[in-house]
Amino acid sequence: MKSFAALLSAVVAVVPFVAADFIPAGSAAHFFSSQNSSLVFAPSAAAPGADLVAALAGDGSSSDITALFPTAGTGVPGQIVYGDFCISANGVVPESSSQVLYVAECDPEDAAQIWTVNESPATVSNADGNCISLGRPARGVSVVLDVCNDVLLPHQIWNPQVVA
Ligand SMILES: *[C@@H]1O[C@H](CO)[C@@H](O)[C@H](O)[C@H]1NC(C)=O
Repeated sequence: MKSFAALLSAVVAVVPFVAADFIPAGSAAHFFSSQNSSLVFAPSAAAPGADLVAALAGDGSSSDITALFPTAGTGVPGQIVYGDFCISANGVVPESSSQVLYVAECDPEDAAQIWTVNESPATVSNADGNCISLGRPARGVSVVLDVCNDVLLPHQIWNPQVVA
C-alpha cells in the first residue's frame, strides 16, 4: 500500500494540470487556462465594458477580481459574475474585430450573459455554440469568443478550481 501511495503521488506530481473542480452554484472559482496553468480569465477592471483578459490568479479573497462566480455552478446555464458585473457576449462576434469578451452590469434578462461551465471537456460555452477562448497564452492578452470546435478546443479548456 505504501509503495502504491508513493507511486500515486509521483504520478500526480507530473500531471501538468490539476483536474477541473465541479463548482457548486454560487461558489467562486479561478478558471485556469490549459494553455498556461498560471493564467485565468478575468475582467481587466470592475467596470462596465472592461475587457476579459488573461490574468494571474489572485488570492481568492472577496476583492480578487479573478475569482468569478458561476451563479448556477457546473453544467447549468447561468451568469458568470464578479461584483455587479457579468461576462457578456452582447455584440461580440467570433473571428471579427469585435471578438473580445467584456463585462457588463448584470442583467438576468440578457441572454448574452448566460454561460454553461461544462464538465468535460472543461469549456465555457453559450447557447450559440461559442466558447470562451484564449488566443495567445500571455498575461494581459484579451480573451475572446470563438466557435466551440475540436480545432480550437486546446484554447477553450479552462480548469476551474473552487476558491475556498
Ligand atoms: C505563463 O504566463 C505567464 C504570464 O504571462 C508567464 O510569465 C509564463 O512564462 C507563462 N508560462 C509558460 C509556460 O508559458
